[in-house]
Amino acid sequence: MTRPKVTVVGAGNVGGTTAQRLAEKNLYDVVLVDINEGIAQGKALDLSQAGPVCGYSTQVVGTNRYAETAGSSIAVITSGMPRKPGMSRDELLATNAKIVKSVVTELVSRSPNMILILVTNPLDAMVHVALRVSGLPKSRIIGMAGVLDSARMRTFIAAELNVPSTDVEAMVLGGHGDTMVPLPRYTTVKGKPVSELMAKDKLDAIVKRTRDGGAEIVGLLKTGSAFYAPSASAVAMVEAIHKDEKRVMPCAVLCEGEYGLKNVIVGVPTKIGRGGAEQIVEYELTSEERAALDTSAKAVRELCSTVDRLMK
Ligand code: LAC
Repeated sequence: MTRPKVTVVGAGNVGGTTAQRLAEKNLYDVVLVDINEGIAQGKALDLSQAGPVCGYSTQVVGTNRYAETAGSSIAVITSGMPRKPGMSRDELLATNAKIVKSVVTELVSRSPNMILILVTNPLDAMVHVALRVSGLPKSRIIGMAGVLDSARMRTFIAAELNVPSTDVEAMVLGGHGDTMVPLPRYTTVKGKPVSELMAKDKLDAIVKRTRDGGAEIVGLLKTGSAFYAPSASAVAMVEAIHKDEKRVMPCAVLCEGEYGLKNVIVGVPTKIGRGGAEQIVEYELTSEERAALDTSAKAVRELCSTVDRLMK
């Protein structure tokens, strides 16, 4: 049986958990790549041995070489340094830009038709790097952040209202950083606007906690950043592509005029299907929401100019 090959680059917590979630779907062949000798091989073997117990027969290959990734339809890129307590995502820029540049070059030379899902931080700038070095069309380079940020918002709202988090829909736009733009107006519980269900100060606190959601976990873990929800979000995107679901998910993609934004990568609602980021979906925004999105886009733009200077 041939199954679509999904490569996961980076066998740390996010990559390892992504590989596990993919293996458990029993739909893909999974290749786990890491530069460190043994880690990818060890985790791949361990994951394969969980198969007979969990009821999957996924082939999981661990490797330090890119040869095994040839013919992948999708790659999830998680490699790079994670944050330490007190660090911003932006402080990872120089180190992770170099890593992402080399990873993307290696991947795309062997799988020229693949779709890349970026997870490495600072996320929006890493999507920019991938676009620059890969030569792939913008629909094939997608950053995972909005699904995660929205999931955090959904979870906080569910806890506050004592409803199942799956009944909560939320939309978080903008860059994956301090300027992200949670949109309470497009946040609903079974169709009911959340503003009708909760006092404004409670909602404001949830918006703030969502923005700081990654840092909250870094502060608790102390030795790394979140990985269960990030890997779940990346795998939801893999599934949307593989099954051609055409779900609208907030993703970091290149805007070329949508939302009035030109040539900047930012989180926007995106239709995800077999073609990757098939269409940016435009929601009507108030002037305040638009201003917040503009501010976020400006912050991403500055980070991208810095990365361009660093990569010269
Ligand atoms: C976070 C990292 C993945 O938000 O950026 O937890």
